[in-house]
Amino acid sequence: MGMIRMALHDGADLDGFRTAVRTLVAQHAPPDAVVWSTANDNDLFGAQAAPVGEAPAVSLPRDVTELIGLAICHSDPERFALLYRLVWRVLNGERHLLEVQSDPLVHRLQLMARSVRRDIHKMHAFLRFRETHDPDGTERFVAWFEPEHHILDAAVPFFVERFRGMVWSILTPQGARHWDRETLVEGPPAHKADAPDSDAFEAAWKSYYESIFNPARVNPAAMRQHMPKKYWRNLPEAAAISDLVREAPNRAREMIEREAAMPTKRDPKKAVAAMADQEPKSLRALNALIAASEPLTPGADHAVLGEGPIGADIAFVGEQPGDQEDLEGKPFVGPAGQMLDRALEEVGIDRKRVYVTNAVKHFKYEPRGKRRIHKKPSPGEVKRYRWWLTKELEFVHPKLVVALGGTALLGLTGKPLSVMRARGPLQFGAFPGYATVHPSYLLRIPDAAGKAEAYKAFRDDLGRMKKLVAT
Ligand code: URA
Repeated sequence: MGMIRMALHDGADLDGFRTAVRTLVAQHAPPDAVVWSTANDNDLFGAQAAPVGEAPAVSLPRDVTELIGLAICHSDPERFALLYRLVWRVLNGERHLLEVQSDPLVHRLQLMARSVRRDIHKMHAFLRFRETHDPDGTERFVAWFEPEHHILDAAVPFFVERFRGMVWSILTPQGARHWDRETLVEGPPAHKADAPDSDAFEAAWKSYYESIFNPARVNPAAMRQHMPKKYWRNLPEAAAISDLVREAPNRAREMIEREAAMPTKRDPKKAVAAMADQEPKSLRALNALIAASEPLTPGADHAVLGEGPIGADIAFVGEQPGDQEDLEGKPFVGPAGQMLDRALEEVGIDRKRVYVTNAVKHFKYEPRGKRRIHKKPSPGEVKRYRWWLTKELEFVHPKLVVALGGTALLGLTGKPLSVMRARGPLQFGAFPGYATVHPSYLLRIPDAAGKAEAYKAFRDDLGRMKKLVAT
């Protein structure tokens, strides 16, 4: 038998490979008799292309077809030849070949499959959409990514599933995919310059990343392993990494010294019991007690009280006041509050007619230079504030109590529930309740498409709350 030439499309041409395998198996063509090339290659041996006719289907064990599906995405130009060799051996008496891990062919193909899987994972984790607008004004999210292997078609269904309701484009040097909320359209290879390299949201995301970066936990080798440098230029937060790593030892030392200098705490349980003993008879009396109390968590020393009318239809409960709330003495006036205001306005809920408060009434923070960095209250701290929150809601007596995020859920139920699982209507003691995400969760979502989708779901929740109190 002379040499047989098989020309496939460059990339992960699974359909072409299947047809080629059928034709070759029907002709009993051994692997050494086949020269594989991709559409742009020249056949060095000058062999003739084999006719691809209606050859019968080839049945292969499932683990073999799975391995083919992955390894065919590898950028190795020998992938088709290696995979045909595997098929040939499996069909010629070595049905359980994949169980022989020491076999050099099996070993090589499994390494290739692993590398492809890793590349798909990296694309899912490190692709960042930027917000743009089409000439007709349509909002479009565009991302640039440079995969190592031919994984575009294997990786894209994840984005279709996740961002079904958005209009987006993924651009790569191997081709583009455009989604219009219904269909996925292929586009030609793209250049980095075709994609925007920042949008307005990125500055906010970068400063959030700086604020959550823990200098005492920094491990540059592990960071590079999980987030290879190659992807940094597409990630807004990566611009801050070098400075943060350089400053980490000093900042860690400052943190330790500050901890050591902290005054010993008084007993918060006794403080709560003393307040409860006074049995406040009105929201005003309760607020007077809260305002006069010492914080039950390290940080700001004055309480930020709830705000809104008694008898409001809805009482929103957040986590704790932030920097701006502490400075102005009002809940939800900073970035998270602005996000909440925007969503309330969009669904037609008047912020002035709802009650807004927090599970923890003091701003817990860690000083860093001139800045005060938000620190999440511990479960013990949240529970200390429960007495206040429960009393406050008894006085406000809303139709519906809304937990914004996990800390509020903990404050309202005493249990560490997952917001995503509890999301929706539920009961908080005597009050009908509703659990949803905290608006700052929306601010923290790194890519614009994910953020827009989560915002929409949040707004839908507010719409449902509005209906619940209207009935
Ligand atoms: N986040 C909260 O949970 N509450 C506020 O008041 C502000 C930000």
